[in-house]
Amino acid sequence: MLPRATVGVLFFLGIVPSMAQESRGHISVVLLGATGDLAKKYLWQGLFQLYLDEVSNGHTFTFHGGAQAELERGRKLMYDHLKDLACPLDVLPNRCAVMKDQFLRLTDYRQLKTEEDYATLNQEIQTLLVQEGLEEAGRIFYFSVPPFAYAEIARHINSSCRPPSGAWLRVVLEKPFGHDLHSAQQLADELKTFFQEEEMYRVDHYLGKQAVAHILPFRDQNRKHLDPIWNRHHVERVEIVLKETVDVKNRTSFYEEYGAIRDVLQNHLTEVLMFLTMELPANVSNSEDVLRSKLQTFASLQDLEKNSAVLGQYEAYNSHVREELQKGQDYFSRTPTFAGVLVHLDSLRWEGVPFILTSGKVLDERVGYVRVVFKNQAYCTQHEATWDPEGSQCKPKQLIFYIGHGELNSPAVLVSRNLFKPTMPGSSWKELLDRPQERLFGQRLSDYHVYVPVAERDAYAILISRIYHGKKESFITTENLLASWQFWTPLLTTWANEVPRVYPGGQENGHLLDFEIAGGEVSFVVKETLEVMDARDRQTPDKYKTIQSRFRQSHLITAWSEELVTRLASDIETVAMSAIRRSGEFHMALSGGSSPLALFKQLALHHYGFPWRHTHLWLVDERCVPLSDPESNFGNLYEHLIRHVRVPYFNVHPMPVHLNRRLCVEEDKGPELYANEIGALVANASFDLVLLGVGTDGHTASLFPHSPVGLEGNQEVVFTESPIKPHQRMTFALPLINKAKRVWVLAMGKGKHDIVTVVSRAGNEPKKWPISGVNPTSGQIAWYVDYEALLG
Ligand code: BG6
Repeated sequence: MLPRATVGVLFFLGIVPSMAQESRGHISVVLLGATGDLAKKYLWQGLFQLYLDEVSNGHTFTFHGGAQAELERGRKLMYDHLKDLACPLDVLPNRCAVMKDQFLRLTDYRQLKTEEDYATLNQEIQTLLVQEGLEEAGRIFYFSVPPFAYAEIARHINSSCRPPSGAWLRVVLEKPFGHDLHSAQQLADELKTFFQEEEMYRVDHYLGKQAVAHILPFRDQNRKHLDPIWNRHHVERVEIVLKETVDVKNRTSFYEEYGAIRDVLQNHLTEVLMFLTMELPANVSNSEDVLRSKLQTFASLQDLEKNSAVLGQYEAYNSHVREELQKGQDYFSRTPTFAGVLVHLDSLRWEGVPFILTSGKVLDERVGYVRVVFKNQAYCTQHEATWDPEGSQCKPKQLIFYIGHGELNSPAVLVSRNLFKPTMPGSSWKELLDRPQERLFGQRLSDYHVYVPVAERDAYAILISRIYHGKKESFITTENLLASWQFWTPLLTTWANEVPRVYPGGQENGHLLDFEIAGGEVSFVVKETLEVMDARDRQTPDKYKTIQSRFRQSHLITAWSEELVTRLASDIETVAMSAIRRSGEFHMALSGGSSPLALFKQLALHHYGFPWRHTHLWLVDERCVPLSDPESNFGNLYEHLIRHVRVPYFNVHPMPVHLNRRLCVEEDKGPELYANEIGALVANASFDLVLLGVGTDGHTASLFPHSPVGLEGNQEVVFTESPIKPHQRMTFALPLINKAKRVWVLAMGKGKHDIVTVVSRAGNEPKKWPISGVNPTSGQIAWYVDYEALLG
């Protein structure tokens, strides 16, 4: 029997009383932006679904559409959307018609602009509740409005439309949640003044996609199978992909500010990455545990570098921007519409496994998926025709969370039959057995266990239901949001002024956007041919000929930077070989800074025959920071070279800047220790090769102009001060450098042109320009200077 007052309101609203049970209180749902595009496409339908699913569970509802438009216009716009509400397949048409009618009766439109409008809404909700004798359970405010409007609406809700104590408030926010770490923090701080963290539900609609929402439960239910293989020993790589065919016409004012990384990678694909990589909490539906684990995983993401990404822009993008944003013909946008990013994690579980995140507009197909490719060590001697898909270790092993569209045109979970037979929640996923001959990712569907949802549900409908149930693990908390921006912002900054590769779009893209992974970096497979030489060289097939001449009366090698680095790397290999032939060892001291990084990568990637086993690596200079600090020269050497090559550990000699748990303290005698080590291992303390750079102020190693130490005297290794941070350094002194058999100086980039010009004419004036004091006593000096540094 229904409580009397509930019967009253249900009658009042035209709802058949027998469908309701005991009243659990009333819920008011306020959709802000009720006439907008998102509301039209998804939100009203999601709210209708909520009503269908939950009305018989004891809550009563009213729905209030709010927007800026005045009453008549707004109402018309909103009802235009509402008349298109569709009936889900699992609801009988007659029942659906009745429910739709009820839903419409429970829905009104109101202009929500001013504080008074919110106060009136509040008053009306209260009056209704009092009249009908209902308890208030809670209020949901769905912000389907641009973020610049958030603060004002939040203020009005907070001051005039909060539910009374005992009832909950849930405000639902749609992205973008900021533009970078700073703006996201600002927005979060602002919202915090109006709402409690538990009141905010930040939507990432990918968390409502059935295949994505199923990742954690799937991992949980299949722990038995996954525990042994969900790690770097078994997983070869993971692809997280959202490809789209649409362009961004009519959205350029948003898109031009955001681009592919902010629009899709920072949120949707990152969240998917987290679900895949986080350590599984004991209870995967406990929001706090999931969040804690997610934050730990964020902390283990390796920093992204410029070469962690390849970016593209579809060809017609500029014309769309010029047209919609009234820009002149000379306006060229740098906003990427395509991004491929390589992510690594520093965790025992995932170290070394490449996670490839890709998304783009105007590509050849629309599809979203996660593909986990497992390593396969088996070699099968029998013919493929006899391989049994279930037991054979020869076929590819893959686990796929198919998010949607594409060839399957449905969400799905696919597990290669030779991996395991998964456990799926019986009621919501069913096995797909037809279409066995279709192929996906190189295998027939019959080679997989394939599961599809029993009923396909839209992501927004799922999320709206979760908001109603207060399931916060499907939403983005402030900490989660900021962790994600913290990860992405440096890459966005690095790329801000770079020009993405232009692609024609669709099938015509061919292989233009294919990219490859090597040495922890990504690059396009089809390299851009750079027109580097002048017209005379157009005919020459070998465009990148290096020019050799003299610099400071010494050997000069010059070319475009890429070629120069290639040449330098191969010269180093030649020298290493000959040193080893002569003495069995090759001692090379390397400088820090950014110029040698390209060299390290070149050595790591292309010199498979390099005699690392007999090579000793030393540092010319080091910053007084822990070796794990991003500023550490050793850290960079490790990251870009050492960890990719097979140099014996005992041949690696970092500078001892961190002794006795403190940095560069005189009494710890770090310089002496290093000098002694050199004395003990390097014959006559004469290195086979010392590689130097040159700073714009003429410094080399960490010997700065007017340094009181290191430019002369007996000390071989010294502490110095740099004018820029980190100030304290340890470095080879000039006399030690000048003892070397070879000293090679690398200078690259336009920024070095002035100092290169100065030094080319300067005499031996180390106090003024320490680099000019590099004059090996009996060894050889060579200058590797690229065209930009040499010619400006
Ligand atoms: C949105 C992005 O968040 O996600 C869009 O702003 C993108 O640019 C969309 O098209 C993709 O979502 P779906 O559900 O179509 O895969």
